[in-house]
Amino acid sequence: MKVTVVGAGAVGASCAEYIAMKNFASEVVLVDIKEGFAEGKAMDLMQTASLNGFDTKITGTTGDYSKTAGSHVAVITSGIPRKPGMTREELIGINAGIVKDVTANLVKNSPNVIIIVVSNPMDTMAYLVHKTSGLPKERIIGMGGALDSARFKYRLAEALGSPISDVDGMVIAAHSDTGMLPLYSKATRNGVPVSEFLSDEQKAYVIEETKVGGATLTKLLGTSAWYAPGAAVSVMVQAIACDQKKMIPCSLMLDGEYGESDICLGVPAIIGKNGVEKIVNISLTDEEKAKFAEAAKAVREVNGDLKF
Ligand code: NAI
Repeated sequence: MKVTVVGAGAVGASCAEYIAMKNFASEVVLVDIKEGFAEGKAMDLMQTASLNGFDTKITGTTGDYSKTAGSHVAVITSGIPRKPGMTREELIGINAGIVKDVTANLVKNSPNVIIIVVSNPMDTMAYLVHKTSGLPKERIIGMGGALDSARFKYRLAEALGSPISDVDGMVIAAHSDTGMLPLYSKATRNGVPVSEFLSDEQKAYVIEETKVGGATLTKLLGTSAWYAPGAAVSVMVQAIACDQKKMIPCSLMLDGEYGESDICLGVPAIIGKNGVEKIVNISLTDEEKAKFAEAAKAVREVNGDLKF
């Protein structure tokens, strides 16, 4: 299983590292536009192989896509991240051009690739890849829900005072500060609804901190986060590589599911060797349905700024 990661920056390198550490891929190719950068990151990571005990071969290239030929999965992390105070949507101008270009190069060299889109604004970038790549929709997956759900679980465990492994929860809809929809009504601790344990005040805290999870880190770090994003991508790549048929919330092209069409939004899906094996239809409360529709409206407006 060969994996390409475009963008050897914070998220791309972290993602390559987690993939290698999990030892399921034979090869990871890092691609960057900055001269020597991907080669350097690849060499540094390869020098951790004997220390961390993995056999995955990591190589780097400055923009030579022939080295990515025959990739099963490609992850697009190239582009600029947000700075403190910026929204993800403000990145569209620069990132749309980069994502479109990168997609064309990937598909030319790996016509059967499954693309995982990470660059922000992610739901719109995933939509752009659908509109420009010519790939079947099952092969284009946006990464947002896996990360946002991990942040939701972190905040739930904090409020409950529980180990994270006792907690379950999922975030769907848009990967944006306002459009994220943490499904509080379905969150559980050891199978018991968390509403049994938390006050309304704690509920409001968990939901708000989940939604601004990325912005909180951007403020602290001066740029956006990388460990949890990299780990979230590696979980998705592993689900494909090992045909795990795992349910992961991802930004997918909808065709009537959840009442929306011609838009990429976060919904739960079974991820396996073919990419998206199935979109899972879970029942939403009326309030959740309204929030999902609101998120769709906002993403559609951002999509309107795209030029193909
Ligand atoms: P970074 O600046 O550390 O890395 C981006 C890399 O992309 C740089 O090394 C740059 O040289 C490279 N690059 C730029 N144009 C390129 C091109 N045409 N071809 C190949 N490489 C190119 O940024 P970071 O923190 O890794 O973030 C990357 C993107 O991921 C940002 O758009 C960020 O907003 C997004 N992101 C998305 C998340 C999600 O949940 N979907 C989570 C975290 C970040």
